[in-house]
Amino acid sequence: MSHILVTGGAGYIGSHTVSCLLDLGYKVSIIDNLSTGSIKNIPQLADFYFGDFSDHSLLKKINHSQPIETIFHFAAYLSVEESTYKRQMYLENNFDKTKALLLFCQNYSVKHFIFSSSCTIYGNVNQPTVAGHTPSAPINPYGQSKLMVEQLLATLQSTQFSSLSLRYFNVAGADLDKNLGPLHSQPTQLIPLASLAACGKLSHPLKIFGNDYLTRDGTCIRDYIHLKDISQAHIKALHLLQKGAPSQLVYNVGYGQGYTVKEVIQTMKKVSGIDFPVIEAGRRDGDPPCLTANSDRFKKESLWSPQYNDLEAICLSAYHFEKSK
Ligand code: UD1
Repeated sequence: MSHILVTGGAGYIGSHTVSCLLDLGYKVSIIDNLSTGSIKNIPQLADFYFGDFSDHSLLKKINHSQPIETIFHFAAYLSVEESTYKRQMYLENNFDKTKALLLFCQNYSVKHFIFSSSCTIYGNVNQPTVAGHTPSAPINPYGQSKLMVEQLLATLQSTQFSSLSLRYFNVAGADLDKNLGPLHSQPTQLIPLASLAACGKLSHPLKIFGNDYLTRDGTCIRDYIHLKDISQAHIKALHLLQKGAPSQLVYNVGYGQGYTVKEVIQTMKKVSGIDFPVIEAGRRDGDPPCLTANSDRFKKESLWSPQYNDLEAICLSAYHFEKSK
């Protein structure tokens, strides 16, 4: 079976995808510096290499065990807010180091590259759902760093090397059977924070960032996608590349259905049965008002068929996972 390298394979989405790849019988190696991931997430069957994904001597060592056919590149800094005041750090880690990883791919004939991109690339959009052809206009350095990698990938496409970028919308929830879910002890995302609040582990009321957006209740709208569906999207992306060059370099991955911050909080309260405290606060820097995905092209071309489009199920799994930690 072909050899797949997963950067960030000890993290939230990376570890779940690793587990799915192992279920399919692939040989999987992981590079992770454990800055946000956890050693607990690494399955016994995967080969784990502690370190930096741009370290060519480490990459050569991994390639030596069996030539790497595909790289799934998850490892990245991912806080929109932090990126607004640590711009250089985001560009160095998310772009410069990825460039070094891609140089390795060119030198060592890696065939396929699947990149974790983000809907944040679209910035402020004036339409209810965004398609892959919607112009990119990121409004924060996190999004800029992702777009720069996408652009670099476009220049590298060849008969020997094919890549695609999956622009995730808001991934959330947990897989209780695999015991994998959000790990961060101090998350910044809404659903992990709401789970902490419902479990009584948040030392302050949950904040609603902005109540004056032009949306149905004044709070931002996002397309929340279940962890299990995003992993399956990666498996479908791999099959798409293995079959031959994809028609698109970038694909949206979301459900096309958005919920406001207030709706998410209400749902978490409902499924947990806990009426945790919430306060309205000012807007957070870098937040677009509304982002939901048009993923029709990805569904059509890869046959990805999401199974868990259910906000209550997403919140309930996140709550149970948090409770079990
Ligand atoms: C962003 C990216 C997403 C990326 C993710 C990784 C955008 C549009 N999306 O998600 O692609 O995968 O970061 O971290 O940039 N909120 C509150 N209170 C809180 C926390 C969040 O009101 O305590 C609100 C935010 O203002 C936002 C919504 O909840 O409107 C979702 O925020 P969050 O969960 O942090 O994700 P994004 O920033 O949308």
